[in-house]
Amino acid sequence: MVFGKKKRKKPVRGLEGVVAAETSLSYVDGVNGKLYYRGYDIDELAGKVSYEEVVHLLWFGELPDRAQLEDFRSELIAEMRLPHQVDELIRLAPPNANPMVVLRTALSALGMYDPDGGKNSEAANRRKARRILAQVATIVASMHQARSGGMIISADKSMNFAANFLYMFNGKPPGKLERSVFDTLLALHADHGLAASTFAARATVSTLAGLHSAITAALASLKGPLHGGANTKVMEMLKQIGGKERVKAYIDGMLASGQRIMGFGHRVYKTEDPRSRHLRQYSQKLCRRAGMEHLFEISKRIEERVLKKKGIHPNVDFYSATVQEALGIPKEYFTCIFSVSRTAGWIAHAMEQFRDNRLIRPTSKYIGGFNKKFVPLEKR
Ligand code: COA
Repeated sequence: MVFGKKKRKKPVRGLEGVVAAETSLSYVDGVNGKLYYRGYDIDELAGKVSYEEVVHLLWFGELPDRAQLEDFRSELIAEMRLPHQVDELIRLAPPNANPMVVLRTALSALGMYDPDGGKNSEAANRRKARRILAQVATIVASMHQARSGGMIISADKSMNFAANFLYMFNGKPPGKLERSVFDTLLALHADHGLAASTFAARATVSTLAGLHSAITAALASLKGPLHGGANTKVMEMLKQIGGKERVKAYIDGMLASGQRIMGFGHRVYKTEDPRSRHLRQYSQKLCRRAGMEHLFEISKRIEERVLKKKGIHPNVDFYSATVQEALGIPKEYFTCIFSVSRTAGWIAHAMEQFRDNRLIRPTSKYIGGFNKKFVPLEKR
């Protein structure tokens, strides 16, 4: 039955291919396996720019010069602290709670203490943007310290954002290779078109709810295993497989029973994910150094097998798992690390939405029937 004159369109499952926003932030070329941040190919940027430079590019449209970079970096580092109520909330969280749940809850709570809470002007949003980016990293680092019985560590002005995170997370300053790989890992995860979490952030902001609400919604969306949660699942799979000689049987068994291999496939890329290409190199280098070569070898075999059996390539989450493992990050934090980086992209998209807003409110195809006869409670 069709009401009104317009014929109802068929819904697009998963909104595949639907253009839901205009953006100048990033472009995912799924055919050629390319990712662009404001026109720059990430192959050009990876390993050459710091995470702060990428954030500056996304937020302000240009790569910073040296003075701008210094200023921006100091502003971010100065915000890497939390109100004591949020420190307390993190300490009181159940020790076995999913870190993404703690992060999402703590970030939401921060909205209550932010001096610009409730204000949506461009100036207030810029201040909140810096604070949120710095505080997401601080929440994750503080949570790990709290859970491992350590002290909350203050940021060190002499280190950049990536090095500060590792320092505050692990309790000791990172080595040169660790800090540069982690910096690039953050740079590679910073934005990725209209991913589910980014769409959640934009839809939230389109109601004129503030930045804290948008980032809370995005964190909730990233947590799922079909999105950012895949990296933790990848490490669980590698550990479960245990040795490269068991890869074939494991993968074939999973595929035969219709299960998905975590860290593989992508809605947009129909070829290799360029981020995965960079991370594969780092994974090999770091695994060798950390005496975890077997994990890299298992990963390579999985990649070959899945490609042969299904023609599917690894996505960003596949090799980011071994990179993080080799950096000494426990697997339950992998999705939080993704969040530390992607917060930059979510904020950039939220600001873009604010500047040219129209409520995001699609329609649905109703299939629930009409004209049912009402039966009073006592007669049901
Ligand atoms: N393992 C096995 N098969 C997979 C697969 C995977 N990881 N990803 C996709 N496929 C298969 C599907 O089974 C389907 O095959 P079929 O046509 O024979 O039924 C086909 O590829 C298309 O899958 P579809 O579910 O339509 O793709 P999508 O665009 O909706 O899904 C993902 C994209 C990312 C959700 C999906 O690839 C996936 O679940 N990957 C694993 C989770 C993951 O790594 N997520 C992180 C993404 S960055």
